Amino acid sequence: MAHHPIQHYDYLIIGSGAAGLLAAKRLADHGKVAIINKGDFSESNTYQAQGGIAGVSDDADSIESHIADTVAAGAGLCHEDVVREIISSGSRMIKELLELGTPFDSNEKGLHLTREGGHSQRRVAHAKDETGKVIGETLLSHVQQHKNITCLKRHTAIDLITSRRLGRHDGNNRCLGAYLLNPDGSIITISASHTILATGGSGKVYMYTSNPHAATGDGIAMAWRAGCAVMNLEFMQFHPTCLYHASAPTMLLTEALRGEGAHLIDHQGHRFVFDYDSRGELAPRDVVARAIDHHMKKYGRDCMFLDARPLGEEIITGHFPNIHKRLSKLGFDMLSQPIPIVPAAHYICGGVQTDSSGKTSVDNLYVIGESACTGLHGANRLASNSLLECLVMAEFCSNALIRQENQTQSMNLQTWDDSGIVPESERIQIKQNWDEIRATMSNYVGIVRSNERLRRARRRLDVIREEIATYYWKYPISRDLIELRNLSVVADLTIRSAQLRRESRGLHYSTDYPEKSDTAQDTILIPDQL
Ligand code: FAD
Ligand code: SIN
Repeated sequence: MAHHPIQHYDYLIIGSGAAGLLAAKRLADHGKVAIINKGDFSESNTYQAQGGIAGVSDDADSIESHIADTVAAGAGLCHEDVVREIISSGSRMIKELLELGTPFDSNEKGLHLTREGGHSQRRVAHAKDETGKVIGETLLSHVQQHKNITCLKRHTAIDLITSRRLGRHDGNNRCLGAYLLNPDGSIITISASHTILATGGSGKVYMYTSNPHAATGDGIAMAWRAGCAVMNLEFMQFHPTCLYHASAPTMLLTEALRGEGAHLIDHQGHRFVFDYDSRGELAPRDVVARAIDHHMKKYGRDCMFLDARPLGEEIITGHFPNIHKRLSKLGFDMLSQPIPIVPAAHYICGGVQTDSSGKTSVDNLYVIGESACTGLHGANRLASNSLLECLVMAEFCSNALIRQENQTQSMNLQTWDDSGIVPESERIQIKQNWDEIRATMSNYVGIVRSNERLRRARRRLDVIREEIATYYWKYPISRDLIELRNLSVVADLTIRSAQLRRESRGLHYSTDYPEKSDTAQDTILIPDQL
């Protein structure tokens, strides 16, 4: 296989969602940046975001109120210092996005703010129902114009290069760069003074998810293999309202629909969420998703329904034009009929343990955005706090790096060793293991868990991981093989984290431990200790 000469950058950014793009833009005035994406630059969770970005932009609102809502949703596990730091930066980040040209919706009073579950105020800035796309496009246009930034699409990061992995014991474990899979199948070795993982979430660990294909938890798995601790991975957030339809399995129906007045109803037209919580459809997501799951099981139904008819035509076609159009193409008319929905895996509240600037326990390695776990979300993320966290972390991370001097790389890196690769025979195991992991996680590690279900899941994952280990180093490397291995690591860590939490809190509900314990503790897994 062809090998390329080693390339050097001051900053290697893996992932081009909101977090990676803003970090690239800010760092480019201070050094040479490479930003990579394993697909096209529009392939990210960021581009799918509908509802908006939370931040205090109205005189009737306050930082204290946004903090209180975040902490209440987080079910006692938020790190309040981090919450304050990130939430206080909300209006500044929204202003910066506006200055960069993001076309948020506005009215005669200023920004048009929408509302979502768990928020006591209207405080979500949005661009109709495709906020993530316009933020992504705005940031990308700045990144593509900057002469110091090299954009590499369809390049998949395989693994990080660390001093420990190279056997160089010269003090702390250091990140030195990464191996990338080139679209032509060859391997590029990148040396970097600083590496930032901004690889997004891991929804694909589950069979039913709102996440696009790229969300396979690569950054979390790479950081884990490099020696980083992970935190609170048991808290996978299920979004209450994903479309129930075979040909559009990842389509989300934004929570802003409920914020503007849509109802959740059952097969008999009953607004059932009030049977479970007095806040009804606007209770935090964990509560609403559990209510839907419980109600579906109680009545043996495959789905429940979102009824947007109370919004009326002007709001539906004005605020939610894209959802309206997409549904129409699938044969649903939001104006005249309730839409079938199910909860689906949406956002991973846990991730690589970092501070608010993305600093990890491996020197020169930062993790920002959804892959990181700062403590902002606790046991359940408040809607639309994620884009905010991505951007604030990108800002804090770049400020921290700009303050440091770039050291030139002094270690000789090894290029990728592909001796021992056997010619491809068949790849059916990859598909088999991929489907098995996702089915196991959906059936045993979903909205409701139990000791027995987690034990079963763990046993299956042990077998699957062993199988992957037997063929990973034998087959020519490919994107699906890389993703499968990462998916298996994240699934395994999620199950281990869930087994350690002997209580029900936020997004983690166990029938064996239905109560919340008096003390709130993060679940932290450390590679050397497993
Ligand atoms: P992403 O935007 O996911 O970007 C990660 C990037 O890394 C991708 O480009 C991916 O291709 C790349 N990548 C991954 N692995 C590799 C690899 N091995 N090599 C190279 N590249 C790699 N949050 C809100 O705050 N408000 C909302 O309204 C909202 N709506 C949402 C709607 C949907 C349908 C979804 C799925 C999420 C929504 N979220 C929302 C959550 C939010 O969009 C994400 O948490 C956030 O965008 C994550 O940004 P990120 O930069 O961390 O990662
Ligand atoms: C949505 O629009 O419902 C998603 C918002 C979020 O996940 O923060």
